[in-house]
Amino acid sequence: KRPAGAPDRALARPVTKIGVVGAGLMASQLALLFARQLMVPVVLTDIDQARVDKGVGYVHAEVDKLLQKGRISPDAANRTRALVTGSVSKEAFADADFVIEAVFEELNIKKQVFKEVEAIVSPECILATNTSSLSVTAMAADLEHPERLVGFHFFNPVAVMPLLEIVRAPKTDDAVLATAFELAKGLKKSAVLVKDAPAFVVNRLLLRLMGEVTAAFDEGTPADVADNSLRPMGLPMTPFVLGAMVGLPVAQHVQESLHAAFPDRFTVSRNLQKLLDHGVTSIWATQNGATEKGP
Ligand code: CAA
Repeated sequence: KRPAGAPDRALARPVTKIGVVGAGLMASQLALLFARQLMVPVVLTDIDQARVDKGVGYVHAEVDKLLQKGRISPDAANRTRALVTGSVSKEAFADADFVIEAVFEELNIKKQVFKEVEAIVSPECILATNTSSLSVTAMAADLEHPERLVGFHFFNPVAVMPLLEIVRAPKTDDAVLATAFELAKGLKKSAVLVKDAPAFVVNRLLLRLMGEVTAAFDEGTPADVADNSLRPMGLPMTPFVLGAMVGLPVAQHVQESLHAAFPDRFTVSRNLQKLLDHGVTSIWATQNGATEKGP
């Protein structure tokens, strides 16, 4: 069944090579997912060789874990490893037909990335952003081909979270959108089409929860009490543990974007800032072991 709002799948274009800009937490999980599920070559790029090596190394280590658990055949493991390569140069995207960025959550950085990518790829190459809170429309504004940009927003941990938010900007082409839905199907994700609105749908809900927990913390409730009080509600992860997994700087950025968009509904916690200032972004992770499986 076609997801609500998805264009006719006959419009979808083949994707035979994927570029991923960034080799951090999200980017390397994406590279693994694309290679494993779609069996197409995936090239990861980042600003230096050490980051690139770390991203590719993460993919190899995760494939090894899957192999040990018997979740992947030795043949598929070898093919998946071989499909993921890294480069410090975006020239590696020259023959890609789908390039997704998963770099730091800052509009100007993402715009600059797309400018550099557009100078290299073919005019048909689809561009996608994994942004969780920024405007896809604003990101498309200076593109030569704004109709080729689509929001393709995954959730952490990418391997296990089934949802994918696909974001249509005003100029996004139907063929681009149809390709995004076909990719989602190949990736075995449940895709929903969402409007290009601040933080789309899911992060608005998550950030309301996180906002209330950080507000309780700001008001003097001990952090662990505020956070753990949600455990009996049956949440798989409490807000601070989730914040630790995605990274507190990312969580803070999303809080700031949502506060700017909806000042009455979203707050920015001064204590989250305090945690960041003191460089203790892993505090919740070390208390809860939340990032043990991350890169
Ligand atoms: N990478 C790969 N696989 C992982 C993983 C990771 N980081 N974390 C867990 N898994 C896998 C485990 O290996 C395990 O797989 P197997 O069954 O093959 O062994 C499976 O997930 C279940 O893991 P566990 O049994 O250890 O733990 P669990 O039952 O507590 O489930 C969870 C783990 C699925 C992550 C669960 O805690 C959960 O659903 N958490 C909520 C996650 C969430 O809300 N994500 C949204 C984040 S917000 C975001 O991403 C937005 C943004 O844009 C910033």
